Amino acid sequence: MSKRRTLVSANWKMNGSLDSIRQLVRAISQGMTQETEPEVIICPPSVYISELAEILKKTDIGLGAQNVSHLECGAHTGEVAPTMLKDFACKYVIVGHSERRMFYSENDSRIAEKFVAVQANGMIPILCVGELLEERESDCTKEVISRQLDAVIELAGIMAFKEAIIAYEPVWAIGTGKTAIPEQAQEIHEFIRSRLARHDHEIADGIRILYGGSVKADNAKQLFELADIDGGLIGGASLVADDFLTICHSAR
Ligand code: 13P
Repeated sequence: MSKRRTLVSANWKMNGSLDSIRQLVRAISQGMTQETEPEVIICPPSVYISELAEILKKTDIGLGAQNVSHLECGAHTGEVAPTMLKDFACKYVIVGHSERRMFYSENDSRIAEKFVAVQANGMIPILCVGELLEERESDCTKEVISRQLDAVIELAGIMAFKEAIIAYEPVWAIGTGKTAIPEQAQEIHEFIRSRLARHDHEIADGIRILYGGSVKADNAKQLFELADIDGGLIGGASLVADDFLTICHSAR
């Protein structure tokens, strides 16, 4: 099996102020030690991207965005184009987060378009997939995840996954304090990898699959130790510097 470097990403969602994000990012960067750390990135609200780009350029922490338009430019009030994120050296862009799917009606095909737009602009998509509670309870988890993955594979092609990250985020575990038990998470991560392997074994083996959903300082290590979990996408716990640092350190 190829060696995949652990990635820990903060998703701050719609939280913080200019003051609080400055303090938070300073505390996080000061708490990082060298070499042994996993790759760490922060995805702030988009208005703070330029501020963070300035601060992070003196650190080893990378910058990501939480969302992007699938379009290049034009009359789309309120949207942010991929080229604009690139202007600020964003390396990663989250696409298909469940909150975008649920509250902003983003469907599989729109998410696939965003995935393609991110790559077309030289950035790396973090494609989120995951099932609702009722889908898990009716035993449809794998079906839902296959559908979400297939939409992107169909549009972008399997080779596009060479430069992509996948995040498995069971919707029932996001912000609820209910983490998938490690066996449940590992089972789905393994399933995602096997689904990609149907198309290309090397891509499946090399891709990093993050887990997201109530990852905390006290459960991260257990999750990151599992064979197919290559890091985490951290919401609530990434807003507290000490908690986020503990999570980063547990991914050594
Ligand atoms: P929580 O860690 O707050 O559950 O959020 C997970 C998430 O949605 C990260 O993208």
